[in-house]
Amino acid sequence: MLGKLSEMKNKIKGKERRTQFYFFSGKGGVGKSSCSSATALHFAKGGKKTLILSTDPAHSLSDSFEIKIGGEIKELRKNLYAIEIDPKKTMEEYKEKFSTNVEGMEMLSNLGLGDAFDIAGMTPGIDEMASLDKIMQFMNSNEYDAIVFDTAPTGHTLRLLSLPDVLDTWLGKMITLKMKFSGAIDMFKKFLPFGDSGDKPKIDADQLEVMKERLLQARALLTNPERTSYNIVTIAEEMSIYESQRSLEVLKEYNIPVKTIIVNQLVPENPSCKFCTARRGSQQKQLNKIHEIFGKYEIKEVPLFESEVHGFKMLEKVAKYLYG
Ligand SMILES: Nc1ncnc2c1ncn2[C@@H]1O[C@H](COP(=O)(O)OP(=O)(O)O)[C@@H](O)[C@H]1O
Ligand SMILES: [Mg+2]
Repeated sequence: MLGKLSEMKNKIKGKERRTQFYFFSGKGGVGKSSCSSATALHFAKGGKKTLILSTDPAHSLSDSFEIKIGGEIKELRKNLYAIEIDPKKTMEEYKEKFSTNVEGMEMLSNLGLGDAFDIAGMTPGIDEMASLDKIMQFMNSNEYDAIVFDTAPTGHTLRLLSLPDVLDTWLGKMITLKMKFSGAIDMFKKFLPFGDSGDKPKIDADQLEVMKERLLQARALLTNPERTSYNIVTIAEEMSIYESQRSLEVLKEYNIPVKTIIVNQLVPENPSCKFCTARRGSQQKQLNKIHEIFGKYEIKEVPLFESEVHGFKMLEKVAKYLYG
């Protein structure tokens, strides 16, 4: 509904945008923030209105750009906007709004609905729902040509994408239940974060439909290779390669197309440095392995620089390796 409304508004304003989404996943320290920031800068310089969004509590975007960012959208330069969302704060807001409690969970399972929550990964999932919901708000806004996510949704968050299927089986149950135990329905409002429910959220079948619609939309966007590009950032080390393989498996499970593997921090050739040569040797072995394992993806290589990737100048350097 809301998506359609903003779509209509955009049409009236004469700008029909189809925002492109770019995700960067990988374990801590491999270079997600560096690569995503470089990507956002690259798009902005190319004239695309770009938002880069981080949900990393360490707030590394501020470091990458050397500009204090924070929880509100900030314009960094022409066409480049950034926001650092605090996942803890987001979750607290949701919790306050919907005050989850264990007691209610037990009641759910007594009603035979505990399973539905489990399948959907809802049991510990209020935080994931909160971040997915936040991500969705931006994904549906059509404000930007490109939205770059410093981090990709984790396996837990992705599990929520199965919720619509679960909800289908649920809905029937809910409607019957609503008549039988109206008290039980009231309780649902404590679990399900609904965007516009105001102070006194009342959960009914309509709202479940809205939620379902939103998740279906998210799923459609996240699995559409024409709208969404997934980048896996890795380094040429065994553990990181292993981690990347696992991420690929999870993403495949949800039909999320991965486009690119970025191998970061490759030690450049330097014959006069024994240490560098040894490090490089071991990395090149792992790099060959990466080409074997991930042969069907586009593989991009970024060297290890002398200094950290902070500031526009360094980000431009990274972008040169990523986008030529
Ligand atoms: N190719 C590189 N050369 C030099 N330093 C790098 C490179 N890539 C990343 N770094 C530095 O390594 C650290 C971790 O990178 P970052 O992008 O923050 O990783 P992540 O977001 O995955 O945790 C940062 O200090 C960053 O500046
Ligand atoms: Mg980071």
